[in-house]
Amino acid sequence: ETIGRLAKDDPAPLYLQLQRALRDAIQSRQLHQDDAIPPERDLAEEFDVSRITVRKAIDGLVSEGLLTRRRGAGTFVASRVEKSFSKLSSFSEDMISRGRKPHSEWVSKSAGAVTPEESLSLGLSPGALVYRFHRVRYADNTTMALEYSTIPGYCLASPEAVTSSLYDALEKTGHRPVRALQRLRAVAFLPEQAERLGVKPGDPGLFIERRGFLQDGRAAEFTQSYYRGDAYDVVAELNDIS
Ligand code: GLP
Repeated sequence: ETIGRLAKDDPAPLYLQLQRALRDAIQSRQLHQDDAIPPERDLAEEFDVSRITVRKAIDGLVSEGLLTRRRGAGTFVASRVEKSFSKLSSFSEDMISRGRKPHSEWVSKSAGAVTPEESLSLGLSPGALVYRFHRVRYADNTTMALEYSTIPGYCLASPEAVTSSLYDALEKTGHRPVRALQRLRAVAFLPEQAERLGVKPGDPGLFIERRGFLQDGRAAEFTQSYYRGDAYDVVAELNDIS
């Protein structure tokens, strides 16, 4: 089966066109998690491009976290989610870009006055209205994470505004965060968390806390996420400090 071909009249650089073709094949599930992608030589032939072009395209997809190289074995569609630590993306976007279907099971959705801890994290005055969302996040039918989000009242019309993606709902009201601070920590799942995720108590998790802000500096979200340790790799690009 062929992955596709490049359009003759596309002005974009060839490696970017090839990257797009491979990304499309992953998103449309023509290529699945853990599938080996064809060797460089075969891809070069199929797409009628040089091997250097193929390598450049693959390098790009590896750094996007869609492909992963295994020493001595070749290049595969990533099976663990390679989550960028520095991209302000949403869970739904992270899954859709990997050809997986995001889904949330709601534990609770409520409105109330901010707690002292939340008011510190969000910089809100005591008594301010917040919405709280507690969800189990799924990719296809697999549990991936537990999330607890607290959103200032000025960001949404009501908690019912969030049906699937929180960031979609925030985007609709013009309150999607544009900047965020994140903290990452290792955790062991507590019994009730393990039960929701279908893992064993004490299994490892990645705790990521995100505080998101609007352009004007006001807070837009305080979210505590507990990702399954067996499903995620956190990746970041580092630059020389000199
Ligand atoms: C990620 C972030 C959360 C954010 C969530 C939104 O999981 N760590 O801070 O709230 O995405 O995802 P969605 O828009 O799919 O609800």
